[in-house]
Formats: sequence, C-alpha cells, structure tokens
Amino acid sequence: MVLKGVNNRWCRGRRPLDRGAGTDRDGGRTDGSIGHALTLAPAPGGRELSDGCTLLPMSAKKSLLWSASAGLAGITGLAAHDVLQKKHSLLRAFPVVGHGRYFVETIGPELRQYIVASNDEERPFSRDQRSYIYSAAKGVNTYFGFGTDNDIEHLEGYPVIKHRTFTGDAPDTAAAHGSHDDATLPCAKVLGAARGRRKAFRPHSIVNVSAMSYGSLSAQAIRALNGGAAAAGCLHNTGEGGLSDHHRQGGDLILQIGTAYFGCRDSDGRFDLDKLVALTESAPVRAIEVKLSQGAKPGLGGVLPAAKVTPEIARIRGIPEGEDCISPSRHTAFHDVDSMLDWVELVADATGLPVGIKSAVGDMTFWEHLAEQMTGGDRGVDFVTVDGGEGGTGAAPLVFSDSVSMPFRAGFTRVYSVFARAGLTDRIVFVGSGKLGLPDNAMVAFALGADMLNVAREAMLAIGCLQTQKCHTGHCPTGVATQNRWLARSLDPELKAGRTASYISTLRRDLLKVAEATGVLHPALIDCDDIEIFFGQSSSRSLRDVAGYEAGWGQPSRADRDELARIMAELGDESPAPAQIPTGEDAQQEA
Ligand SMILES: Cc1cc2nc3c(=O)[nH]c(=O)nc-3n(C[C@H](O)[C@H](O)[C@H](O)COP(=O)(O)O)c2cc1C
Ligand code: SF4
Repeated sequence: MVLKGVNNRWCRGRRPLDRGAGTDRDGGRTDGSIGHALTLAPAPGGRELSDGCTLLPMSAKKSLLWSASAGLAGITGLAAHDVLQKKHSLLRAFPVVGHGRYFVETIGPELRQYIVASNDEERPFSRDQRSYIYSAAKGVNTYFGFGTDNDIEHLEGYPVIKHRTFTGDAPDTAAAHGSHDDATLPCAKVLGAARGRRKAFRPHSIVNVSAMSYGSLSAQAIRALNGGAAAAGCLHNTGEGGLSDHHRQGGDLILQIGTAYFGCRDSDGRFDLDKLVALTESAPVRAIEVKLSQGAKPGLGGVLPAAKVTPEIARIRGIPEGEDCISPSRHTAFHDVDSMLDWVELVADATGLPVGIKSAVGDMTFWEHLAEQMTGGDRGVDFVTVDGGEGGTGAAPLVFSDSVSMPFRAGFTRVYSVFARAGLTDRIVFVGSGKLGLPDNAMVAFALGADMLNVAREAMLAIGCLQTQKCHTGHCPTGVATQNRWLARSLDPELKAGRTASYISTLRRDLLKVAEATGVLHPALIDCDDIEIFFGQSSSRSLRDVAGYEAGWGQPSRADRDELARIMAELGDESPAPAQIPTGEDAQQEA
C-alpha cells in the first residue's frame, strides 16, 4: 500500500504521518497532511530516495493510474445506473451515496438489536409493521420467522383474535395461502342505498386509499396511488387539494371537499355547486366526502404560501396564482348540523352521488345532534369516516398531532355507539382510518363496526416512504411528499402503482385469512366477542365489554349479512371483478 506524496513520488510515509494523526479522537488532523500512521514496505519495483520516498517505475504508475481510472469509471457507471433505474427512488435521487442506506439497512437488525431499538419500538410504524408493508408491496413473502417478538404476556390493552376450531362458514383461503393471489372483499353495505342516491354502489374493496392531496404529495405519488387503486379495484380519495390530472389514471375516486372548496369555489372562495357538478362529471368520481376535520390536526385551517401556488395548483384549486391561499378552520357553506344536512342533500341531489363526512372525534355534541336529526330519515349522510388522532398529516403543529382528538378505537367506539343507540347503523357506511392498514388493527376496526378502512401512510410506505418524517420540509428523500422536481422524479409512478395494488391485495388476502381462522365468511363479520383485550397477566376483557357495546352492535344487518354471503359464494374462486359494483339507478340502466 502506498500513499500519494508530492510530484511523481509515492511516499511510504515516515515524516509527519507516523504518530497516527488523523485517527485521533477529535476526528481531524491538525498538520494538514493526509493518511495515518503506516509502516510500509517499499512499493514493488520502486527505487527508494534519500527522503524516504519511493520513485515508482513507469509500469507501476500506469497500473495505479489504471486502477484509479477504473474506480472512477465504476463510480460514474454506478451513478448513471442509479439515476436511470426506476426501481429504487432513493437511488434515483441520491445516486451512489444512496447505497449506504441499503448497507445500513442490511446491518440494521444487528445495530438495532444491540444499540438502538427493538422491532416493535419505532413509531409511528414499527420495523415489523413496515417490513410487512414493504414485503406486501413488493409481492414477496410477508411471513416472519421464529415466532412473535411482542411481549404478549405483559402488554396492556393487547388485542387477541380468537380462532375457532370447527366452523362451516369460513372461506377456504388455502389456495391463496402464502401466495400473492388477490382476495375480493366487497363492502358489506351499499354506499348511498339508505338514502336512495341515484349513483349508489357497493364498493368493490373494503380497503381503500385515504385522502392525501396533490400538493402535499408529489404528482408522481398521486399517479402511483391512483394507478394502484385502479389495479386493485379500490377507491382513491383525492384529499382536499382538489382533483388534478394526476388523479385521472383510471382509479375510481372519492372527491374530498374541504373548507376551501378547492375546485368547486367562486372567486371569493365560496362553495359553487355548478362547478362541483361539472367536476364530478369530468372524472370517475363515485362519492363525495366532506372533510370536517382530520385526526392529526382537527379544527385547524391552513395556508398554502404564495410561492407554492404554481400555475398548475392555481388551476386545479381554482385560486389566483402567486397569492397566499387560506383554508379556513371551518366550513362556510353550513354552520351547524341542521344546515350541514340540508347542504349534504343539496349536493347529493345535484350530483346523484353518495355524500359522507370525515371527522376526528372530540366533543360528542356534534355526533349526538347528527344522530338526532338523521332519525327522521328524510336527511342524512351516507357514510361517516372516523379518523383517529394517531393519523398522519403532511404538516401540523405537534400539539395537534399529539394531543387534539381521540385515538381511533376510542373515537370510533363513541361515534358508533351514538348511531347504534339511535338505531341508525344500518343506514350508514362506517369507514375508519388511523393505522388500520395492518391486519390486526384492521380486524379490531371491523369488529367495532367499521365497514371499510382507508390507508394513507401505509400506502405511502408501499410506494417507497422510509418514515423519515420530513414530509413538512419539502425534502422528502423518496419523492413521495415533495414538490421538488429532482426528488419527485425519483419515484416511478408505474412501478409504484404496482406496489400500491400489491400491498392492498395482500392486505385483503390476509384479512380474509384471519376471517377464515375466526370462522367467519368476511372480515366485516368478525364480532366484538371474537376479540379479547389482555391487560398483561392481570386481566382480560372481551372487546365488546371494553367498547361498551350491546349485543348485535358492530355487525351489519341480517339482510346485509345474507347478501354478503351470497356475493362471497358467487365470487368463489373466480378472479375479482375489476370495478365497483353499481346498485342504484345506474345499475338499472346498465341492466
Ligand atoms: C401526507 C398526508 C396528507 C394528508 N392529506 C389529507 C387530506 O388532504 N385530507 C384528509 O382528510 N386527510 C389527509 N390526511 C390524513 C389521512 O387521510 C388519514 O386520515 C390519516 O393519515 C390516518 O390514516 P393512516 O394512519 O393510514 O395514515 C393526510 C395524511 C398524510 C400522511
Ligand atoms: S418525508 Fe419521509 S416520512 Fe415523509 S413521505 Fe418522505 S420518506 Fe416518507
């Protein structure tokens, strides 16, 4: 080994290098030299000079130069490969150096085991949870070996799903066991049926993509999610930022309307019904979700700074270019439950679409009034999306994410109970969100009465998110949550659409497997008595008891269960239908 000295000479280091400078604890050298203490043999074929350096012969110099050039060419080649390949967003954005991350990931389990954290300590999604999602998205084996590493005997509030030994009801998922076959899991209820909406339909998938706007996510990410939704036959919620061209990759949409009415507002920012109708007819919009609040930042308005109001964003949102864009904290089209229900009916009537609300859960007065005023049956929302306080966001003040609004299980239970006491649960499709894109959390949600669930951050993980939690900075390293063109370019929408679809299909398959183990035909039919909550070794209670549910709560009606059994039997081993199943007037027209 030789070090480069001066001019043509290759110095084998006596002079100032001998003391090991450069490896001292302050990590730097103070004498300006390079390298570290060496005791070296002369380079082969070299002639030793009086100053201790070796003059190398021409052949040795050539070979060193050749090695250096080859190394440089290798790095250049690797950089070119990284920039041009589409599989790994990180490498496209950070050629060559990005490999370091994969190396660290490789040795990560060892590092964490001894130094950092266990597989279940990282938040919001633990390493195990992320590994599950990454594997599901890549369509590789999602199994874990050696048994659980959860401390199940000592954890407080740990849900245990109880399997049945004998059953005549359960689906046979043997064919899908361990493979990547899709599982068709339609919703147990028809969205919009109770209020007779013209475009009522039975959603094809109980797992759907949650609201995330173009603006908070990159164009490439939106394209990947929408393309994935199309491939998986599920619904894709636009988020409150409006309906962009990127949302038009073939996936069915739920159009979200927030307080700023992006895409359906007049020049003063007020709601514009005609614009809404035109917008819904311009794309495959299947339902409308009115956003009242979001778990991670309820009751908070927002500002999109002028610099981010690009011509494209201005066009999509219907706002002036280059001016600050304010989202108020509350709606201006209605101001209480009564006026909200009138407005919901107006929108449903004009568009023919089912209309629902999305909300986090805080003070219960709103929900009690809503149930009271829906009891007559002449007005009502078609679906209710309950978002847990543990939910995600592109950006929010910490106190809102940490402390405002209830976690999903507590919030959902309270909301469902209000409607159950009013006898209204069969008239509403219940949707849940808040880390529900994991089979165990999802099964608890279904047992509590959710008919469908939305996945946001899990879908982001599926398209390459690394949980670096820098979404609010605009510097997302994987191109998911950024408008930086270089970073966003690293995400290949086509490849990641496949990942989205694969993750959703795998999750549905796993939910169906758990349904099989518990002896029910469909995950929505799991009962709260099928789940027991363990409080360490001291006690356990059924989920029904913990939630305070009465008999029958959490289950679809007898009629919906029978219909679901018929549909599941019909689907049998057949491949899944590609689209949502229409049931309203549209269905009659199609028939
Ligand atoms: C980047 C990002 C953007 C979001 N944008 C919206 C939005 O526009 N409207 C909305 O209602 N919720 C929004 N959410 C919340 C999600 O739709 C979802 O309710 C929440 O993250 C819980 O689901 P999860 O735990 O699967 O992420 C956003 C979440 C994230 C992470
Ligand atoms: S900033 Fe980090 S957490 Fe946010 S989307 Fe990008 S990779 Fe994921």
